[in-house]
Amino acid sequence: MSHIPVLLSETIRILAPRDGARVLDCTFGGGGHAVAILEAADCRVLGCDRDPDAILRAREVKATYNDRFDFRQLKFSDLYEALESHPKFDGVLFDFGISSFQVDNASRGFSFSREGPLDMRMSASGLSAYDVVNSFSENDIARIIHMYGDEPYRRSGKIAMKIVRTRELDLIRTTTELREIVKSALGFEVIHKRYSNVDVATKTFQAIRIFVNDELREIDCALSQLPKILNNKARVATISFHSLEDRIVKNWAKLSNDGFVSITKPAIRTTKEEILSNPRSRSAILRGFEYNCNWGDVDNGDFTR
Ligand SMILES: C[S@@+](CC[C@H](N)C(=O)[O-])C[C@H]1O[C@@H](n2cnc3c(N)ncnc32)[C@H](O)[C@@H]1O
Repeated sequence: MSHIPVLLSETIRILAPRDGARVLDCTFGGGGHAVAILEAADCRVLGCDRDPDAILRAREVKATYNDRFDFRQLKFSDLYEALESHPKFDGVLFDFGISSFQVDNASRGFSFSREGPLDMRMSASGLSAYDVVNSFSENDIARIIHMYGDEPYRRSGKIAMKIVRTRELDLIRTTTELREIVKSALGFEVIHKRYSNVDVATKTFQAIRIFVNDELREIDCALSQLPKILNNKARVATISFHSLEDRIVKNWAKLSNDGFVSITKPAIRTTKEEILSNPRSRSAILRGFEYNCNWGDVDNGDFTR
């Protein structure tokens, strides 16, 4: 079980860590990006993640980098409260979504291809996928699948109806049960060529995961707190994996009056070579920003310092 960090060298170029800088990795995961930042300069990294399982991996990084590295288990929405008294940062990284550690661990219930309990909670606490599937109304389930999975409304409705009919007979407990329900709800559409490359349950699983972890509101919250924890000229790197995440980043950058200037125009995408060696990187979109109180000081599109 390992996690290959996505767009690694491009991310480091955006963050451009310098000796003595402080960098915040808000999505520590397996620590791949954090270690690369620590290797790029004699800087300090604070790794954060809401997942308690990340603590073990953080201990390994701490053992190598000692007081250059620290870790806190926290959610994006708690960033400011937790770091209010921390010295400000010169760089921040968000590598959104879930890690291979989470997907590959069947007991976390993120994967439709591994039999496990319907869980999907990154923080390992609070509302779970089981609660959504077994207690939400048909309308609410359809709405979640449509909004967060980008399933057309007709398909979302069919899936929600099948979920509710199935749970009337017995509770839905596992990831593979849910996948079979989605498959049978969509019937002949499953074998339609258009859907043949992607598992039919992908969008439903993505939708329930995003809802359970309140992922979109978390991203919104994190971005809006940045001015309070950044030094002037700090760099921000965001890696999104679907259009819902990327739209929030783009809107934040467009509407924010806080002086975040894009330094990656156009956004950076993975090369064919990276996709071949790490298929999970396929949909990644990397954006870079510089926090700049004096608008207009930055040449857009050139992210070398
Ligand atoms: C794609 S992985 C990051 C992988 C990491 N960059 C690496 O190289 O190993 C995303 C991580 O962000 C964490 N995460 C997602 N949303 C979060 C949130 N709202 N607050 C804190 N951590 C979050 C997940 O638990 C997961 O470990």
